[in-house]
Amino acid sequence: MKPTITLSPFPKEVESWWWTHAVERWPEMSEEKLLNTLRQEIVEQSDRFNKARSFDASAYGARDLSVLAYGNFYFSRTWMAARFALAELLSVCQWTPPAKGPIRILDLGSGSGASGLACLNALRENRIANPLELHAFDYSSKSLAYLKDLHRSCADLWPNTRIKTERNDLRNPSPKMISQRYDLVLMGFSFNEIMQDLELEERVKGLKEITNCLKRSGFLLLTEPAESEICRSLHQTVARLKELEEGLFILAPYWNGMPCPMARENGKYFSHEVRKYPVVERVERLNRPLRLEIREVKFGFSILGSTSPEPVPKTPNLLRLISPVKKRKGTISFFGMAANGGERFYEFQRRDLSKEVMNQLLGLQRGDLLQIEGEFSASEEGRIRLTEANRLLPLFVPRVMGET
Ligand SMILES: C[S@@+](CC[C@H](N)C(=O)[O-])C[C@H]1O[C@@H](n2cnc3c(N)ncnc32)[C@H](O)[C@@H]1O
Repeated sequence: MKPTITLSPFPKEVESWWWTHAVERWPEMSEEKLLNTLRQEIVEQSDRFNKARSFDASAYGARDLSVLAYGNFYFSRTWMAARFALAELLSVCQWTPPAKGPIRILDLGSGSGASGLACLNALRENRIANPLELHAFDYSSKSLAYLKDLHRSCADLWPNTRIKTERNDLRNPSPKMISQRYDLVLMGFSFNEIMQDLELEERVKGLKEITNCLKRSGFLLLTEPAESEICRSLHQTVARLKELEEGLFILAPYWNGMPCPMARENGKYFSHEVRKYPVVERVERLNRPLRLEIREVKFGFSILGSTSPEPVPKTPNLLRLISPVKKRKGTISFFGMAANGGERFYEFQRRDLSKEVMNQLLGLQRGDLLQIEGEFSASEEGRIRLTEANRLLPLFVPRVMGET
């Protein structure tokens, strides 16, 4: 299917910058020794993110080894997640930047800057010419120092931009942060760490304070790792805050301001995107013996703001793909979250389809927004049978240049 928007891949300059820093930090090590040292740390971080889940200021932002392992391995992934979420903000939520004057961006739990710098780069690629100011907060001063250095070294990727960094424990944010207003607030894979072990009402209170930092026309973008409990926690917090705050709207991942239904019900699929992107060479090299997933970025996300979303018809003809596309027993099928709020099972009979249409269906990615043209009938359990008379139209189908 033809993409509705094409994103650039992770920049080579940033990939090389991280590797050069690792080499400069340990000039005495052979390449293989350095790769193995980073690999050991990557595995520790993977266990920390996925199993131990314990975070504090010394977790992985206190040592050069941790920051450099993150930078060389995980940074490209969270960068791409931010790029996909921003693409949705720019093309589906139709964010319009201020006509003139600087655009102010706040990155909370910025680490070494994957989300904030991806945002500066995306805005420039989208020909947004305003001066850009990025204000980055983290409790790891080491990560913030890397962010500043990277910003300075790869200036061509984000011309005419300024950054300010501030060391801060965001569990007790500084009054100064709360007193300022931003056009965009980003939280890239940091909400779950900052809100770790907090009850729902405390998370809601924390998120409310963060939304207070938005200008009236501003948006908050949260991306999170695609782990079921983390995504459920994100969507429950967002849904509860929306119930309490009339003037706040949920603009994504669903239409009509709908909270993620999976936050309430135990749906078959929890809400997250699975997006492909071209493999980053250094990541591939590091990953050879590790065999972690590196060709896809899986993430949950939410976009909030005070601008009410454009309503769309509440029909099953509009859907967000929320499952893998399956080819079996003469059918091609998938689950979609329909614009009327229901989780639906969509099924095409393969015998009806041309090879071209079949390939298009098999090339869909979880998170694509689609429209189905033509009439169809739905069974009582919500199963929708589609035929060759039903065409799928892409509404938001982002793809990365060079992705295979
Ligand atoms: C998984 S990293 C994500 C970094 C970056 N946003 C990205 O997109 O790659 C999470 C970040 O949140 C920061 N963090 C976690 N808890 C924090 C807290 N209580 N206060 C400030 N920063 C925190 C960590 O230091 C780390 O840099």
